[in-house]
Amino acid sequence: MYDMNGLYEAQSVPHAIELLKEHPEAQIIAGGSDVLVQMREGKRAGAVLVSIYGLDELRGVSMEEDGTLRIGSLTSFSHITKDPLIRKYIGVLGEAVDMVGGPQIRNIGTIGGNTCNGVTSADSASTLFAWDAVIELTGPEGVRRIPIRDFYISAGRVDLHPGEIQTAILIPKASYEGYKGYYIKYAMRNAMDIATLGCSVSVKLSDDRKTIEDVRIAYGVAGPVPMRAVHAEELGRGLPASGESVEEIGDAVLQDVTPRDSWRASKAFREHISTVLCKRALEEAIRRAEEEDGKPDEREKGNANREPDGAAQNPAEPAFPTGQHPLIEGADGRQYKLVRCRINGEMRETMVDVRASLTDMLRGNYSLTSVKKGCEVGECGACNVMIDGECYNSCIYLAVWADGKEIRTLEGLMGPDGELSDIQQAFTVEAAVQCGFCTPGVIMSAVEILESGKEYTRDELRKLLSGHLCRCTGYENILNAVEKTMRKRLGKS
Ligand SMILES: Cc1cc2nc3c(=O)[nH]c(=O)nc-3n(C[C@H](O)[C@H](O)[C@H](O)COP(=O)(O)OP(=O)(O)OC[C@H]3O[C@@H](n4cnc5c(N)ncnc54)[C@H](O)[C@@H]3O)c2cc1C
Ligand code: FES
Ligand code: FES
Repeated sequence: MYDMNGLYEAQSVPHAIELLKEHPEAQIIAGGSDVLVQMREGKRAGAVLVSIYGLDELRGVSMEEDGTLRIGSLTSFSHITKDPLIRKYIGVLGEAVDMVGGPQIRNIGTIGGNTCNGVTSADSASTLFAWDAVIELTGPEGVRRIPIRDFYISAGRVDLHPGEIQTAILIPKASYEGYKGYYIKYAMRNAMDIATLGCSVSVKLSDDRKTIEDVRIAYGVAGPVPMRAVHAEELGRGLPASGESVEEIGDAVLQDVTPRDSWRASKAFREHISTVLCKRALEEAIRRAEEEDGKPDEREKGNANREPDGAAQNPAEPAFPTGQHPLIEGADGRQYKLVRCRINGEMRETMVDVRASLTDMLRGNYSLTSVKKGCEVGECGACNVMIDGECYNSCIYLAVWADGKEIRTLEGLMGPDGELSDIQQAFTVEAAVQCGFCTPGVIMSAVEILESGKEYTRDELRKLLSGHLCRCTGYENILNAVEKTMRKRLGKS
């Protein structure tokens, strides 16, 4: 159970604003990958939450009449990466958010939460700075739109007025038309680690591709909030698109960056990599801008996305009508809600405590013990289950959000007489075993991979399995089992 004193589920944006006005002490929860983890850690203990997770009107990417790209604040990272408009106009944003955590975190984490937490290391933030994003906020006084640089006030603090919610992130046409970009995240590990430093660059070349018409350089963790290297940008405008210019611009960023010492890295090291990452990102952005003429983006040739174009715009219909979410006045820990959902193919309903996680519900109410309680903060993947076809860490998912969803656990993979599915058999044949805590979650990630019907390279498979953190045993064997089953299903072996 989460240590919360109340949960209100908003039915619409105006309803969310009303709830925030009625309960000024309440905190917004979107995907909860920050909020629920902080609650577990005691930092938000006893909080009252207003959940906006159910507001589907805030999900998805669209284009406004004047060409502005509109990213709904509840759009998850994985849906941003797969979105056709993002891939076409600002592919670098899709690449940047594809570096957040692991696959399960990218399925739950939203771009609104990633910016509203005010954290300098947020992987979306530097790219949004480099593309001059505008933040749309809706509150009791109506809608206001402010440049992202004005949204960040200080470390962990953003310009959200009482009763306001962030409803969208906008990229005006003038900010993306003719630009190409590149983001580099420097971290200790390739997955499940926040940035030691992140640098995102966007560049526009002249028509003959010989001159840098405009360059925008943005950083995360180079200061208390994400920032732009304005002196270097000023210097870069009008310079030839050459290696010498890249060196000059990269060296100039030291006039702007103000990193600090931390346990992850010293100030001196961060300053050093500020110049190095800028040069590398700028070089690649220029290369992309030079190759502009209709050539496919590198990512489109072989990336590890799991859905065809357009799927992100049309999230799967719920398995059955969900009905209205009642307002939950859960102030004393004795409040329950009826949650109806399909679990492993069967319609089920049960009363759940509003403070329960989905892990609590699946284990406690349905005895689905393949769903393990491991770290309980979204890091190990032991509690991984599929919800509407995507993998989620059920320890950081509110049980009440499961209403109307289709949930699958390891128990649902077996045949009517207990026969193992092909992927389970492959795990035994290949000796692809983690401990009993880790194996079920890994198999559910494998199921999501296999059901995409796509063929992945070994490196892509590695990335798709990276949301499982323990390194006790045989990861090569796991890769072998998934790869062999994938090839078998595709008729290639
Ligand atoms: C294991 C793990 C690994 C992670 N790795 C990374 C990483 O590599 N890179 C990275 O950038 N992040 C990482 N994160 C952090 C996290 O996933 C992101 O910050 C996420 O984007 C938060 O979005 P959310 O919807 O889950 O936000 P929530 O947790 O729901 O909310 C976050 C904050 O924003 C506020 N908020 C949310 N939405 C709105 C809105 N629409 N309007 C107003 N306020 C709002 C909330 O009140 C809260 O203060 C990781 C988290 C975990 C658990
Ligand atoms: S990720 Fe849920 S228990 Fe570790
Ligand atoms: S804790 Fe499960 S394999 Fe290490």
